[in-house]
Parts: sequence; structure tokens; C-alpha cells
Amino acid sequence: MHRRTLLCGLLALTACGTPSPGRTPGPGSARPGDRIAGLADLPVGSGALVDTPGGGQLLLVRPADTEVRAFNPACPHQGTVVNPPAGGAIVCPTHRSEFDPATGAVTRGPAVKGLAEVAVRLAGQDVLLA
Ligand code: FES
Repeated sequence: MHRRTLLCGLLALTACGTPSPGRTPGPGSARPGDRIAGLADLPVGSGALVDTPGGGQLLLVRPADTEVRAFNPACPHQGTVVNPPAGGAIVCPTHRSEFDPATGAVTRGPAVKGLAEVAVRLAGQDVLLA
């Protein structure tokens, strides 16, 4: 597998920095209760860009066995789709802003604010939009 594709996540095999074709960063028109991903596709400590059923794209992070957080992957600086976490940080490929995978908070500029969180919840082995 191409290294760039591997770094871009386990679920949505997309080029870093851009949403999947036809996708918009964020939940799109997905509604509460829509299934976003399965826990089996998101090992503990990992993260991935996933396509929502509503034409959107989210960055999912699984910091613990029973915890999954979702962020709009659009960088708050200029909108580039950020990379899934690697080496303890979420990095924007355009100007290298960094974000905390656990919270989405900015840890290195030029971005001055963190990634926007999107509410999700677990239902068994599924990650649902909350
Ligand atoms: S677009 Fe992400 S740091 Fe500039």
C-alpha cells in the first residue's frame, strides 16, 4: 500500500489534504443515528477519515476502547483536510498546524483554533452520529 494512502487512514482511502471526491468536510446531510463507522475498523489509538452517509467526511479518533471522537477535518486555518493522527498529532499537510488527537485543540500554528468536534456515540460496535 502506498505510504501516503496508509497515513490517510484505515477507512476512507483518500488523498491527504483533500476530501474524498464528492465529499465535503463535516457530517454533510447525515442525521443523528446514522452509522458512521464500525469499531472493528478503528483500532484503539488510531484515527481515520471516514465518509458519512450524507456526503460528508469526518475524522474519527479512538483514544480508548470505549471512546470515539469525531472532528470536522477541515483545518481552521485555510480549510485543508487534515491527516489522521500519527506520531501523537493530527497534522495539516498544507502549513503544518498540529492538533491534539484527544481533543482537537490546536498545539501548533498557524491555525489559532482547534478542530470543530462533531458529536458521535457508540451503539454496540457501531459509531453513530449523535
Ligand atoms: S490550511 Fe492547515 S495550517 Fe494552513
